[in-house]
Amino acid sequence: MNHKTIKDKPTFVKTDKLFVSLLGIAVLLLTGFIFYDYYTPEWKHYQSEFRDLVEEKLGPERAAVAPSGLQQVYVKALDKADRCVTCHHGVEWKGLENAPEPFRTHPEEILEKHPIAQYGCTSCHGGQGFATDTHAAHGLVEHWEEPMLGKELGDFYVMSDKKALMQMNCNACHRYDKETKGAGYINRAKQLVNEKGCRACHVINGRGGTVGPDLTWEGKKSAEQFNYERIKGFHSEFTWQVAHFKNPKELVPESVMPNFNFSSMDAQSLSMLVMSWRKTNLPIEYIPNHNVRDIPTPEELEKEKRMSEGPGAFFVKKNCFVCHSVSTLDIEAAAQIGPDLALAVEDVQSRFGRTLDDFLARPTGTMEVVLSTMITLTDEERREAIEKLRHAYELKKQARESKK
Ligand code: HEC
Ligand code: HEC
Ligand code: HEC
Ligand code: HEC
Ligand code: HEC
Repeated sequence: MNHKTIKDKPTFVKTDKLFVSLLGIAVLLLTGFIFYDYYTPEWKHYQSEFRDLVEEKLGPERAAVAPSGLQQVYVKALDKADRCVTCHHGVEWKGLENAPEPFRTHPEEILEKHPIAQYGCTSCHGGQGFATDTHAAHGLVEHWEEPMLGKELGDFYVMSDKKALMQMNCNACHRYDKETKGAGYINRAKQLVNEKGCRACHVINGRGGTVGPDLTWEGKKSAEQFNYERIKGFHSEFTWQVAHFKNPKELVPESVMPNFNFSSMDAQSLSMLVMSWRKTNLPIEYIPNHNVRDIPTPEELEKEKRMSEGPGAFFVKKNCFVCHSVSTLDIEAAAQIGPDLALAVEDVQSRFGRTLDDFLARPTGTMEVVLSTMITLTDEERREAIEKLRHAYELKKQARESKK
């Protein structure tokens, strides 16, 4: 009996122990699984999905060579280590053109001109190259100043082409191109800068007038340097620039920058252009046409010389020509913002009921701002201006007479 009890007992103890340890293992496995799932980086899921996708579309041999583990493109010249390819596995694979993101084949043409090994991903797309979860990598997180210029941001800023914002990055390198294929918004903005004569008032790439601030490195200003008091809605440099292009005086009441009645799309294009003018530390071989810069054309040089040596030289010297033509003195406005001054003698009288002398001594409207903040005229110079404008008016009258 004793014997039996002794024999029984260990059996009982054994089963008990076994049960407890099995339970223990089960709990351990379960927690392990939960932890594994919780702590497995997001990209591992994408990598296994990628393998399944490749197996289904391209066969098991290809799937076997799909890379695994963290992937990165290191570009020494740009000091970039972009890990986007850890998830965006398919960028250089053929046959995945219709796969869902992040597995799709990259549009090919652009990478032919900018091989990934030399450009990485973030030089065009923006985003946070070293991050390995989607949200952080796409850079829409606090303390990351270069969010990915993709669909989400394009949606937020109500761009009609949701992916267009990336063109800002294209133009950080392509700023000296007259036109860049694939950067339609930027090309449009460059055309507007020429048509509207922005250089009359702004230095751009070392050339232009000084009525407004130098815009050559406008893109290096940080968002905090703008005044948002008069901006409704979201505060960012982009919203400031768009609102300012649509109506400069609404944000800067004393501004003499004209309201050009830009459409939303043109205002967005110009905002992208001026924000792309940022300082980069790119090696020079990454900047196409850097040797071209913005050299004035021979016609432009000829015109400047003719005007500054001709009978209207005074109006060039005093910067009136930025906004005014004086047609009979051969002065052509850089940007037609004010009226042709050949008629000023008669026009000031009929518009303001005052003489020209009186108007220039106590100007109103835009000229009040101009003569108090941008251009100072000594009494001597004011007399010279009036005398020259009288002469211009005489010539105008003679021209009218001879037409009759
Ligand atoms: C952890 C995985 C992961 C990483 C790392 C990652 N992405 Fe993505 N990406 C995704 C997923 C998932 C999508 C599709 C869903 C979406 O649009 O958010 C996507 C979509 C995109 C798109 C198309 C949508 C759009 O907004 O235009 C672009 C472009 C893109 N990624 C670029 C990048 C770049 C550049 C990097 C590196 C800085 C990067 N991604 C890093 C997972 C990732
Ligand atoms: C030279 C610039 C450039 C580089 C470098 C570049 N891309 Fe792109 N990428 C583009 C352009 C342009 C598009 C097309 C955008 C459009 O559809 O308007 C694009 C599109 C994409 C898309 C969306 C595809 C789609 O359906 O339109 C993803 C995702 C993407 N790129 C990821 C990457 C990743 C990851 C890298 C780095 C391995 C990279 N890109 C490198 C310019 C670039
Ligand atoms: C980091 C600098 C850099 C970025 C960013 C960049 N490019 Fe380029 N791109 C270059 C360089 C350098 C060349 C080569 C120019 C050459 O060969 O003369 C080039 C070539 C090109 C060409 C071919 C030009 C030609 O004459 O054949 C096109 C088109 C182009 N890029 C468009 C784009 C677009 C669109 C983007 C944005 C999606 C972009 N680039 C982003 C530097 C850049
Ligand atoms: C008649 C002169 C004049 C013309 C023409 C002009 N601007 Fe301006 N601009 C100014 C003045 C003055 C300011 C400073 C006051 C203000 O912010 O409005 C200014 C401000 C700006 C700013 C904001 C700079 C900053 O950081 O505060 C930008 C950007 C700008 N102009 C771009 C342009 C562009 C692009 C054009 C052509 C489409 C243009 N301007 C035409 C006079 C001009
Ligand atoms: C930043 C642009 C700008 C500059 C620079 C400028 N003006 Fe003006 N000027 C204007 C505008 C705009 C008007 C129209 C004012 C109005 O309608 O209130 C004007 C009006 C005038 C008028 C009245 C003309 C008329 O027909 O009613 C005279 C005279 C004049 N300016 C002289 C000058 C002189 C002289 C200079 C140089 C010392 C000068 N302006 C520089 C923008 C400018």
